[in-house]
Amino acid sequence: MRLFFALWPDATIRAQLAQWSDTVQRIAGGRATRSESSHITLAFLGDVAEDRIGVLERIADSVRFEPFEWAIDTIGYWPHNKIVWAGASVVPDALRLLARDLRTGLASAGFAIEARAFVPHATLVRRCSVTADLARYEPIPWTVRGFVLVRSALGTSGGDYRVLGTWPGSSI
Ligand code: 2AM
Repeated sequence: MRLFFALWPDATIRAQLAQWSDTVQRIAGGRATRSESSHITLAFLGDVAEDRIGVLERIADSVRFEPFEWAIDTIGYWPHNKIVWAGASVVPDALRLLARDLRTGLASAGFAIEARAFVPHATLVRRCSVTADLARYEPIPWTVRGFVLVRSALGTSGGDYRVLGTWPGSSI
């Protein structure tokens, strides 16, 4: 099973992200991601045997996580993988800690987690060659109350995703 932990936006935020994607796609071409599967990856696991899901659930249980507010207010383009993404000019400490603690827990349980710096982003458009200005967008406020474990169906790049579990944050 191809799995990852993520922040999963509600319908209002998904609709706003879809507007960003549509605008980018009109300007720069490429393939807009499906709005129902917009997300921010916290930790990408890749292929995981089904009998390891219990371990993943216990790791997620052990992560202390405070709900936080942030805003999606930045658009970026990565030429190496040709994606346009939405991200944040300010990444809250609570989000950095959440991703760090999750990744640390996963690594100590033997999961191979990439060492690349955490750049929280929602992919808006794939296979895109950006040469023009990507325009300006209204910031999207987002209160994060939990994170999810997601299964991605193999062989699809458009995102056939199923949420397997949700972990709400708790106030400390
Ligand atoms: P992307 O949108 O930047 O491609 C499901 O594929 C999610 O996992 C996507 O958010 C994707 O990020 C991310 N992902 C896919 N392969 C990855 C990898 N090798 N390392 C980190 N994240 C990855």
